[in-house]
Amino acid sequence: MNLPHRTSSLVGRGPELAELAGLVTRSRLVSLVGAAGCGKTRLAIEVARTVADRFPDGVWFVDLTAAGDAVTVLSTVVSALGFAPADTDRPAEALRAHLRDRRALLVLDNCEQVLDPVADLVDDWLSGAPPLTVLATSRAPLEVGGERLHRLGPLALPEGDDDVTASPAVALLLDRLAAAGADREDLGLLSAVVRIASAVDGVPLALELAAARARAFSLDEIAHQVTADPSSLARSGRGSDHHRTVRAAIEQSYALLPADEAELHRAASVLPGPFTVAAAGAVLGGPDTGPRPARSPRTWSPAWCTTRCWSRSDRRGPAAPRASPSSPPCAVTRRTRPARTPPRCAAAATSGRPR
Ligand SMILES: Nc1ncnc2c1ncn2[C@@H]1O[C@H](COP(=O)(O)OP(=O)(O)OP(=O)(O)O)[C@@H](O)[C@H]1O
Ligand SMILES: [Mg+2]
Repeated sequence: MNLPHRTSSLVGRGPELAELAGLVTRSRLVSLVGAAGCGKTRLAIEVARTVADRFPDGVWFVDLTAAGDAVTVLSTVVSALGFAPADTDRPAEALRAHLRDRRALLVLDNCEQVLDPVADLVDDWLSGAPPLTVLATSRAPLEVGGERLHRLGPLALPEGDDDVTASPAVALLLDRLAAAGADREDLGLLSAVVRIASAVDGVPLALELAAARARAFSLDEIAHQVTADPSSLARSGRGSDHHRTVRAAIEQSYALLPADEAELHRAASVLPGPFTVAAAGAVLGGPDTGPRPARSPRTWSPAWCTTRCWSRSDRRGPAAPRASPSSPPCAVTRRTRPARTPPRCAAAATSGRPR
């Protein structure tokens, strides 16, 4: 098994883990899709660990965060597999031959910025390497024939009169607060904990970054800070730049959007929560004026959760959409090339993404 070490406990995700474990044993390509920081990589590693014994030729983790094109995608896969192609002039063919008879699971992590090269490679493998299974994590689908999508949202927040500590978002926050050395008496202040978890919409990345502030601030202070501006959450100290700040994670997704979808998201950022097609149509100026979302409010939530962090902090009241390409955020990305598989319906045509 070639998977990254877990340095902290997995919180919640029991149903998702069970469903994904079933999917990867039945399907050859499963894509775990969701907004920045919602826990795709963490869950994919857990899924791979759970199903490892069903893949006698191994489970491999390929971190594509730093890959930028077809060449670096291929070289990242080759080096993650520890494979030295004999034919160095044709590494893709050599890799396909290497994978041909292997009953292995490849986790391709963080594919969003290299969707086209990853899709080409996976398409090639799946037609030439029948026993191979791929689990991809990405902020947008690969759109390869046979892909099974699993959309991942943030961790659930407390509802109604439920015991708040039963909520996975609160449980993760409490766990990370304790790890950061939060004052024990402070941890009894569940109302502040719930305020923090709700201010960041239960997004695990933001929960962890908020918890790290307990080294210097009380829970009340953190709650006040994240309510005012959740996008300012940042990681200090050593480690990779991926996830260093919430703002950077969202900006990266926004930068991957084509112009029409970036425009849509600038306009939609005035909406304070999940929205209907009708509400978006109203904001965008009516049925014939540009792109609009084709999703139900429920399926918009994962994207919205990070969008809202920005719209809250950057908006001064119901502001007009802004023109700067680096301004408001979006957690949904799409590739620009046409889908390989014919769409089944209007919603499928967008793969759940706005057009
Ligand atoms: N269910 C969970 N339990 C515990 N920690 C979690 C959970 N989900 C996510 N995390 C932690 O939250 C942080 C962000 O998660 P992760 O890296 O998996 O997000 P992601 O969706 O892959 O983000 P990105 O789109 O930026 O790659 C990580 O430190 C991860 O370990
Ligand atoms: Mg990830």
